[in-house]
Amino acid sequence: MIDLRSDTVTKPSAQMMEFMMKAPLGDDVFAEDPTINKLQLMAADHFGMEASLFCPSGTMTNQIAIKAHTQPGDELICDAASHIYNYEGGGIAFNAGVQARLINGDRGRINADQIENAVNPNFDWLTKTSLVSLENTVNRAGGSIYQLADIKLIKEVCSTRNLKLHLDGARLFNALVETNDTPIAYGETFDSISICLSKGLGAPIGSLLLGNQSFIKKAKRFRKVFGGGMRQAGFIAAAGIYALENNIERLAQDHAHAKQLAATLSDLDFVGEILPVETNIIIFEVKGRYTATELIKALQPFNIFAFTVSEHQIRFVLHLDITPAMVEETIAVLHKL
Ligand SMILES: Cc1ncc(COP(=O)(O)O)c(C=O)c1O
Repeated sequence: MIDLRSDTVTKPSAQMMEFMMKAPLGDDVFAEDPTINKLQLMAADHFGMEASLFCPSGTMTNQIAIKAHTQPGDELICDAASHIYNYEGGGIAFNAGVQARLINGDRGRINADQIENAVNPNFDWLTKTSLVSLENTVNRAGGSIYQLADIKLIKEVCSTRNLKLHLDGARLFNALVETNDTPIAYGETFDSISICLSKGLGAPIGSLLLGNQSFIKKAKRFRKVFGGGMRQAGFIAAAGIYALENNIERLAQDHAHAKQLAATLSDLDFVGEILPVETNIIIFEVKGRYTATELIKALQPFNIFAFTVSEHQIRFVLHLDITPAMVEETIAVLHKL
């Protein structure tokens, strides 16, 4: 099976499983799981941040961050394509009682001027703007990457306007591998960062929320309220340690595969606009002989699976369970259609 639906479909490798089975365990609600404690320290150190919190999912880390940075009735600023707004079940309103001010950025990336213009003045009758949330890379925009210089300008607006700055970094490592920006530079800039271990890094489960000590203390309380306090979860934290130690640099291979596939797609008569391929995600328009749904169906007999992301667009996502041979096979099948 060549599964291009998502980078969340990866299975833990034999080596990762072996590492998981050896993990020392304890009760993490009592902060006594040595493996979770190690992972949390490791991730915080990696970004030069004070602390981090292990959670089951990226949705939970984002939602905890939004809850911890805001008060009910506040407003957060994010791009209209962002995961926190579109794909987290309305959690911004449900969990935090916060509303979203949506900005149409450049392929999911909003800029400092747009944010400055969207911050509400301090009148009783206007919603209080308290948080800006960025996503890097931007999933719905085809894995686009923020320039660190642009993020620094956003940070200046946030500092002047007294806004917190959160990053949904579900695929931050894809951005870092591509740009060579340092994790420390990100740690210095954001008040909180969510990273996912279960996307390109190949762990079966797990995300981390990073921030300063007082923020993580608050976040830990919300994790409990959200039902995310886990017990002997060191098994899964071990997968995260393995992923951070072994699976970051190899993301470059997924990016090369994405470029290789996109080059083939650009030659096909039934493929229209392909969003610029910056990391491991390709979003392309289908036209002419096929609709997007028909093309998905035409690929299935060849054991190739993908999702539509709109009526006319398909998404291919490259990841560590897609080998070079699978990429070649996909290219051969696409030429046959
Ligand atoms: C950009 C982004 N943020 C957050 C998430 C949520 O992660 P999870 O599926 O672990 O809740 C995803 C999931 O695909 C994502 O793509």
